[in-house]
Amino acid sequence: MKKICVVGTGYVGLVTAAGLADFGNSVIGADIDASKIEILKNGGIPIYEPGLSEVVERNVRAGRLTFTTDIDTAIRKSKVIFSAVGTPPGEGGEADLRAVWKVASSFAKNLNSYKVFINKSTVPVGTGQKTKTLILQESGNNDNFDVVSNPEFLREGSAVGDFLNPDRVVVGTRSKKAQEIMRDVYHALIIRNVPYVETNIKSAEMIKYASNAFLAVKITFINEIANLCDIVGADVNEVAKAMGMDGRISPKFLHAGPGFGGSCFPKDTMALMEIFKQNGIRTRVVEAAVEANEIQKRGVVDKLRSVMPDLEGKIIAILGLAFKPNTDDTRFSPSKVVIPLLQELGARVQVYDPVASDDFRRDFPGLEYKDNVYEAVRGADALILMTEWNEFRSLDLKRVKSLLRSPVFIDTRNIYDPCDMREKGFTFVCTGRSNCDE
Ligand SMILES: NC(=O)c1ccc[n+]([C@@H]2O[C@H](COP(=O)([O-])OP(=O)(O)OC[C@H]3O[C@@H](n4cnc5c(N)ncnc54)[C@H](O)[C@@H]3O)[C@@H](O)[C@H]2O)c1
Repeated sequence: MKKICVVGTGYVGLVTAAGLADFGNSVIGADIDASKIEILKNGGIPIYEPGLSEVVERNVRAGRLTFTTDIDTAIRKSKVIFSAVGTPPGEGGEADLRAVWKVASSFAKNLNSYKVFINKSTVPVGTGQKTKTLILQESGNNDNFDVVSNPEFLREGSAVGDFLNPDRVVVGTRSKKAQEIMRDVYHALIIRNVPYVETNIKSAEMIKYASNAFLAVKITFINEIANLCDIVGADVNEVAKAMGMDGRISPKFLHAGPGFGGSCFPKDTMALMEIFKQNGIRTRVVEAAVEANEIQKRGVVDKLRSVMPDLEGKIIAILGLAFKPNTDDTRFSPSKVVIPLLQELGARVQVYDPVASDDFRRDFPGLEYKDNVYEAVRGADALILMTEWNEFRSLDLKRVKSLLRSPVFIDTRNIYDPCDMREKGFTFVCTGRSNCDE
């Protein structure tokens, strides 16, 4: 049983802490946000993540998982320290590593025995080396530690399953001692034959950015194909399905939509572009994907204007504020681009999301937040479906139509069938299937 401290109890840190405790380790989750720790200590969960509360509860009850704001003591008591703090975009798009340096500083000050510092946050190549240097400087050259890069690949909305059943675990270190400790930490996965990849620190750091950038490019590619499908009368779902049957392509991440958002792809693509620049070269592929993605998000408003050119004074219902279903995370959500554009064009917006309204309200306090779909749609001139929540998949379409002032339905996620919707009397626009009945 390893004594582990996970610093940062956000989407990644809390899932990591609970997951590692579930593997039988003794884990302290530490965070500077006292309100989060208070909620956790009282048996609550500060974020919406399906299945997480059960794992947290189970491990708290078993005495394997505790929470604290006392980061120094938590580090002193532990041998294995995961840093899972945020690395948001800085002014120039580069990853802001201030929180990581703070954790490394606390680690240096509390290096009372051999410890491993594990970077779970997404950090630029070279951060592991800088972390080592900083810890040495701040600990008076105490070298009784190792630094490991162990990037996380979980997806919000299915984070628990992803952590407990990952496609692979990547562990970057050349230290034999640290390698052994990491194999022990992940023993429960290794014995289940989960692919376990050992690399050097820099490769592990690079794997994370390369993976996210690749997925962002893949989504953007199918979005552009969808835009062309709309013009030529092809059906992007049919195209993607057959493309995905090619083992070299795979069917995942081929769902056309309003552009990627979330806490990872936008910031990681920007950070990767910056890393390329700092190293004297460019990534034209990722740059193009980022630019195309911005255009894709704004294109949602063009879709609406293709059937409702003048938005002055119109009421638009937005269904979905989270960047994807099953999360309350609205960071870089496409709705955050679409809503201000609608407002600039004179529209009034009324919105509904099953769980993400509180998170969204922090940036958009003045919107009309509704309690359910039908309240959001009532009296609206058009509705835009932005997030494919399950509850939006089986709407009472007769009721929706009767509540709308005009039956304009923009389905950015391709949940509904265009022919069927037109038969039902909707003026229906979707993504890459708009003219597929031709
Ligand atoms: N969210 C995801 O889906 C996901 C997936 C893979 C990787 N990542 C990466 O994991 C990292 C964390 O992401 P997240 O989404 O969990 O972020 P988050 O914002 O949800 O959580 C970060 C947590 O760190 C805490 N924190 C900040 N500074 C701290 C400090 N000095 N000491 C202690 N706690 C501190 C914050 O209070 C917060 O609770 C990022 O680098 C992100 O890119 C995220």
